Amino acid sequence: MKILVTGGTGYIGSHTVVELQAKGHEVIIVDNLSNSSIDVLDNIAKISGKKPLFEKFDLTDPEMTAAFFKLHNDIKAIIHFAAFKAVGESVDYPLMYYRNNLVSLINILQGMIDNNIRDIVFSSSCTVYGQPEQLPAREDTPIQKAASPYGNTKQISEEIISDTSMNANIHAILLRYFNPIGAHETAIIGELPLGVPNCLMPYITQTAIGKRPFLRVWGDDYDTPDGTAIRDYIHVVDLAKAHVIAVERLTEGTGKKNVEIFNLGTGNGFSVMEVIKSFERTSGMKLNYEIKERRAGDIVKVWADTEFANTELGWKAEKTLDEMTSSAWKWELALAKKK
Ligand code: NAD
Ligand code: WQD
Repeated sequence: MKILVTGGTGYIGSHTVVELQAKGHEVIIVDNLSNSSIDVLDNIAKISGKKPLFEKFDLTDPEMTAAFFKLHNDIKAIIHFAAFKAVGESVDYPLMYYRNNLVSLINILQGMIDNNIRDIVFSSSCTVYGQPEQLPAREDTPIQKAASPYGNTKQISEEIISDTSMNANIHAILLRYFNPIGAHETAIIGELPLGVPNCLMPYITQTAIGKRPFLRVWGDDYDTPDGTAIRDYIHVVDLAKAHVIAVERLTEGTGKKNVEIFNLGTGNGFSVMEVIKSFERTSGMKLNYEIKERRAGDIVKVWADTEFANTELGWKAEKTLDEMTSSAWKWELALAKKK
């Protein structure tokens, strides 16, 4: 089955392409390389033995997108990762985020309608839950007003897809990722943050390798057992595998509704200090860190209710926090060797 993976040279996309290929699917990637490198194609091939088809263009361009779909008229389903994802940047440049994330989705949905492609898997985020009143967060936990333009693009995207599916023959699975970290076990692909990372895991590994002097732990006075904030970290390979199951569920028509929503997390919350301790344990390094004030806009604690994904998708995250931190460290070491 030929599957279009938008954003397929990016972090989660590249790991998903490897898992799709392992299940025998043919992949065509569209990416404008705004946040990824062309080298990823060769790196995917080093793991899977097969270089995916690739087209470089900006999915916000309606003519290019329409021409792409006309040319590749054998695409059976789409996994749509392409988006901008930096929360802070979205506050500074909201229109850039609304334009990129929403216009690209609209162009893809139009392409699906015009070319009779029914099935799409969409990258949503736990950010839609904000700070839920009840934990763990279930798929029917009420959505909160988005805390950033980025988060709002995910909420609006979910609505655009749901509305479109009412009148067109579109079936969708919306996957709400919690906090993806880690890298492929080969350390051939992984996360490539541009500039100074905002996210915890790449900041930890960049500190340990000496690119950053110390990690700032944003607050240790939260209402949590050790005072630091809690998230549901999930290994990127577990996440990638869920996409293969989701896209097959769509194409096999085994879903229960035209639009289904699944949380992708482990169901376990870990604090910032627990992640640091896991990193120290698996790397054998002592991490330099300092406790700082809380980061504006941070959620105190969130983790997923994974029951629906476990029972309906038949998917369960398998990898432990130690496997996440050790693979992230192996990847940082591999990156350092390349330079
Ligand atoms: P990433 O930046 O590594 O990958 C996104 C890819 O999309 C990049 O390769 C980029 O070049 C490409 N892209 C962006 N805009 C494009 C456009 N207009 N046309 C063509 N290509 C374009 O990000 P990621 O971490 O792999 O995230 C993938 C998806 O998952 C995104 O939609 C993101 O919002 C979502 N998500 C990510 C996280 C996370 O923590 N990484 C959490 C929840 C949801
Ligand atoms: C995790 C924890 C920080 C960096 C982001 C996006 C969200 C979603 C997931 C895409 C927090 C702490 C971090 C540092 C620290 N992405 N931290 N020092 O905030 O859960 O969410 O990724 O959809 O939209 O906002 O992830 O990795 O930034 O932070 O102490 O240098 O680590 O305060 O408690 P977050 P994160």
